[in-house]
Amino acid sequence: MSTQRKILITSALPYANGPIHLGHLVEYIQTDIWARFQKMRGHECHYVCADDAHGTPIMLRARQDGITPEQLIADVSRDHQADFSDFLIGFDNYHSTHSDENKELSQSIYRTLRDDGHITARTISQAYDPEANMFLPDRFIKGTCPKCGAEDQYGDNCEVCGATYDTTDLKKPYSVVSGATPIKKDTEHFFFKLGDFETMLQEWTTAGHVQSEIANKLKEWFESGLKDWDITRDAPYWGFEIPDSTDKFFYVWLDAPIGYMASFKNLCDKTDLDFDEFWKSEDKTELYHFIGKDIAYFHTLFWPAVLKGSGYRTPTKVFCHGFLTVDGAKMSKSRGTFIKARTYLDNLKPEYLRYYYAAKLSSGVDDIDLNLEDFQQRVNTDLVGKFVNIASRVASFIKKNNDGMLSGTLPAPELHQQMIDAGDLIAQHFEDRKYSQATREIMALADKANEYIADEEPWAKNKQEGMEQQVHDICTQGINMFRILCIYLKPMLPEVVKQAEDFLNSGELSWNDLDKPLLNHSINKFKPLMQRVEKEALDKIIDASKEDIKAASQKTPAKKSTKDVDVSNEPIADEIEFDDFAKIDLRIARIVKAEHVEKADKLLQLTLDIGGETRNVFAGIKSAYAPEDLEGKLTVMVANLKPRKMRFGMSEGMVLAAGPGGKDLWILNPDDGAQPGMKVK
Ligand code: MSP
Ligand code: ZN
Repeated sequence: MSTQRKILITSALPYANGPIHLGHLVEYIQTDIWARFQKMRGHECHYVCADDAHGTPIMLRARQDGITPEQLIADVSRDHQADFSDFLIGFDNYHSTHSDENKELSQSIYRTLRDDGHITARTISQAYDPEANMFLPDRFIKGTCPKCGAEDQYGDNCEVCGATYDTTDLKKPYSVVSGATPIKKDTEHFFFKLGDFETMLQEWTTAGHVQSEIANKLKEWFESGLKDWDITRDAPYWGFEIPDSTDKFFYVWLDAPIGYMASFKNLCDKTDLDFDEFWKSEDKTELYHFIGKDIAYFHTLFWPAVLKGSGYRTPTKVFCHGFLTVDGAKMSKSRGTFIKARTYLDNLKPEYLRYYYAAKLSSGVDDIDLNLEDFQQRVNTDLVGKFVNIASRVASFIKKNNDGMLSGTLPAPELHQQMIDAGDLIAQHFEDRKYSQATREIMALADKANEYIADEEPWAKNKQEGMEQQVHDICTQGINMFRILCIYLKPMLPEVVKQAEDFLNSGELSWNDLDKPLLNHSINKFKPLMQRVEKEALDKIIDASKEDIKAASQKTPAKKSTKDVDVSNEPIADEIEFDDFAKIDLRIARIVKAEHVEKADKLLQLTLDIGGETRNVFAGIKSAYAPEDLEGKLTVMVANLKPRKMRFGMSEGMVLAAGPGGKDLWILNPDDGAQPGMKVK
């Protein structure tokens, strides 16, 4: 094997104000597979992470819960670590950004930057909540959209019409904390002069440290100019105080990435690892950050500049991945696809998801989709049907005929060698984070192994006289091919392969065991390694993820017609199955807003509240209703209709109406007792 590398790997630090969900896990699983792979290749590799424990949201969340921020982050850290551990994420250290190590490192890095002239002070005018006595980050200011007039929109963009704007453009702004109208207040802030590092960053970002997609994005950022970065937040703030100042704190994004160093420092203090070897020089060690595309700016501009400016090394590579969608759409609470790690774990084994993500992951930044039907099929076909099947088809013969002892020869050595030879390509795919390609290669080998067994028919030969040795050899070949697949799949399926190692009695398998077949070797009794994924488990996950919305039995008709309407019925459409019908998710929706759509003669634009989620829907009911007739009313909508792009914007659902058309068209008005979000049954 090639020379031993020294590798430090990180995943982004999850915020300490919410649970881990399946979106996060794309990253932790991607990173963990890489770390396990590197270790199996015999490299020295350390994988560290931490909770990102500072910032306004965490401060306010603790207040809301009536606990101290320390308590909140301790609770969340416990939950996060339990989730990670149960998903078999093998961190070598898990720390917190609210730690002594991080405080020391953040303050010393800041001092160095300041003393070298990379920090500048400026008085700025900021939104301030005069009731809560605090400055307000943009996301804590809401108001009316300056473009479309939708209420309760966030500081920088409108969820209804999609417009982006400055917080100062919001009409009727109010503080989310107290409801008060924000005022402007002057405050002195410290800025990191990112522009000082332009040349260094231009060079660094084009020298192969980031993916090409990110390098392209960076070009745009360079073109729009590198602005000074505000690293200050005023008290009250939950974070570290800025040295030599009063009531000023580091913005959470300053100390967050330093948390990578702090977690590693914490590990060094528990072991004999040398911190400086990994952080002071690029010569002997490699440093990799795995992140999601939403935080690329922080990791490819600010972070390398901060490191450079404070005398540390820069990352070897920043690996960026895309976002998770579930069944083709953004994770949604009402659809039950905002799935928490724990909800999944309550119903299914972690390795199914680890394998599925691997089967979908590429080295690029494209989003990846968890399609539940595909997930079930993929796992059942590949893992249960192909991989585990190999062992279960041959193990019993070895047990029964040979008392668990493998034979001394492989009857198809060239096939065995072929499977070993594929290892270089598979390893390259792992190294390049092309896990989907690695998976494809591995499954092609599993197919070959299964074909071999099917052709040799040990079950038939076992019934014939004088074939004992042949059966023994064929099954030995089967076991050894299974063993090679175990090595290849181990980064993705660490627990299952551990059980397989027990069965094979092989000790811990690693990459350089590939060409060491088990011959004249005694194996243990085979126990089924994996069960099929059943639809019920998936249904349970979705149900449990749906917000606690009580189903209400619903009678529908509403407005009565006063005149007889001539209805020339259209023929009834093709029959559908009950399952097709059951797929339609009907929800009670409150029409929060109804507006005319410019240049559309049939459409009204509706803002619908379905209990904690708002939807923008264009409905062809202008002939029957004036907008003011609709606002505040309840209606019934199809909540899981795939969003459709229309000329006027995105339509996210459909309201149900009945009638022949024209003036005689009635939207369905549910009876009293209905609440937005309720399921219509
Ligand atoms: N705290 C910051 C990171 C600081 S790193 C110095 C943060 N936390 S996060 O909890 O919001 O996200 C943690 C990681 O999970 C990020 O890399 C983020 O991109 C990733 N993901 C969060 N939601 C995701 C999906 N839905 N899909 C894929 N990855 C996602 O950002
Ligand atoms: Zn708007």
